[in-house]
Amino acid sequence: MRIAVIGSGYVGLVAAACFAELGHHVICADNDEKKLAALRRGEIPIHEELLPELLERHRNKNLTFTNSVPDAVRASLAIFIAVGTPPGEDGEADLSFVESVSREIAGAIDEYKVIIEKSTVPVYTNEWIKHVMSLNGLSHGEFDVASNPEFLREGTAVTDFLFPDRIVVGADTVRSVDVLREVYRPMTDGSYYSRPNAIPQPDAAKVPPQMIVTSTKSAELIKHASNAFLAMKISFINAVANVCESVGADVEQVKEGMGADSRIGSRFLNPGIGYGGSCFPKDLQAFRLVARDFGCEFRLLDEVMAINEEQRQRFLRKVRRALWTLSGKRVAVLGLAFKGGTDDVRESPAVAIVQSLLQGGCSVIAYDPAAMDRARHLFPNQAITFENSAYDAIAGADAMLVLTEWEEFGALDLDRIKSGLKYPIIVDGRNMFDPEIMRQKDFIYYSIGRPDVVPDKKTRVAAAAQKTRT
Ligand code: UGA
Repeated sequence: MRIAVIGSGYVGLVAAACFAELGHHVICADNDEKKLAALRRGEIPIHEELLPELLERHRNKNLTFTNSVPDAVRASLAIFIAVGTPPGEDGEADLSFVESVSREIAGAIDEYKVIIEKSTVPVYTNEWIKHVMSLNGLSHGEFDVASNPEFLREGTAVTDFLFPDRIVVGADTVRSVDVLREVYRPMTDGSYYSRPNAIPQPDAAKVPPQMIVTSTKSAELIKHASNAFLAMKISFINAVANVCESVGADVEQVKEGMGADSRIGSRFLNPGIGYGGSCFPKDLQAFRLVARDFGCEFRLLDEVMAINEEQRQRFLRKVRRALWTLSGKRVAVLGLAFKGGTDDVRESPAVAIVQSLLQGGCSVIAYDPAAMDRARHLFPNQAITFENSAYDAIAGADAMLVLTEWEEFGALDLDRIKSGLKYPIIVDGRNMFDPEIMRQKDFIYYSIGRPDVVPDKKTRVAAAAQKTRT
């Protein structure tokens, strides 16, 4: 199958590399010349596991890059649109990139093509793409518009793409469904998974994956509704965590009990400082507004967003409870990425919290395993420094804050942390540590939805005296 992918951002680049991995001939088009040159040299602009391997395997063979959308379109049968749909000023998805790419595609079509929305778009988008096609002189039968939303997560994008829970194909004609069936055949018939050099299968993967064929509109909705539901799950557990704090219960125990019900499931029930990233905040907002445009007030989503915002404020109140005043305090921050396993800091709750700490007069010493380069420019001329390890960041700090769920933070040597900190205070926004261990090690430990660990005064005085002696 000859495939064009328009846009080489997260979704586009991963999709292009994975289609090539499935054995298709893929041309990836982008208008950013610098990026294209880097990709042709094998340099990848994002931190994504397995993507370098796939690019190495297929680059300049069955995966090529171009700045010409018309060339990519003419050479292909399936055209995937994977350009950005950023939030506009009012929160609605800004579809101007989708529109201009659609126009370029329309101008280049010389025989039947299927145009497939891969970016997350509101439910009416396929109608607009069709409209752009006919405005540009194309008639029925020369093209179809389909929706094939992507559910990959940053950090595990390649594995998510090749081992999905489901492949959703929204298409309104048999011809376009057949093209999409062909695109995914190596996955749905299982042949990809029996290749000796296939990407390793994750434990929980169901292969071959199921393909769900729906109308185009339903597929567009599946994407928005899925992201909104996952965000709701996170806000739900965060709200439960707050109740736990009020009544003295432990949210991790509550989560275990709830998650064991297979109808609920334990995934995406981790309490924290709220969801972030380039998808959930923007998609919730856009879904809320598109529903309103069609006369549906989806107020539940307002509450999901409000809880998410409040979660950051609650965390900051916890920091104040731990430190009393912020001004002049030296605070070690572990984690800047919006979640573990990525260098992405877009809409990162960690970044928002650091901004508030800086505004409050703290000096921040930050460490993140991958996101420091991207984060640096977000804090121009501010009282923040970056260190190359967690241990360097905590040296002499008044407290350590954990803001991103990087696995390596959970494996830190707590004795070393304790002797490095000025005071043994940890405010953990991701529940990375066991409160019982923190109690045994005489930390003052605040986490989410669990009772605070505050050793009694006698123990603390003894610990301080011990520290002075050593
Ligand atoms: C999300 C969805 O999970 C993907 O299915 C979807 O394809 C993608 O958006 C998209 O629309 O492109 P992603 O943004 O990479 O993927 O990140 P997630 O792993 O979903 O995490 C989002 C945020 O929720 C992070 O800030 C994370 O820390 C937070 N989170 C996640 C929690 O606070 N608790 C949880 O239990 C899970």
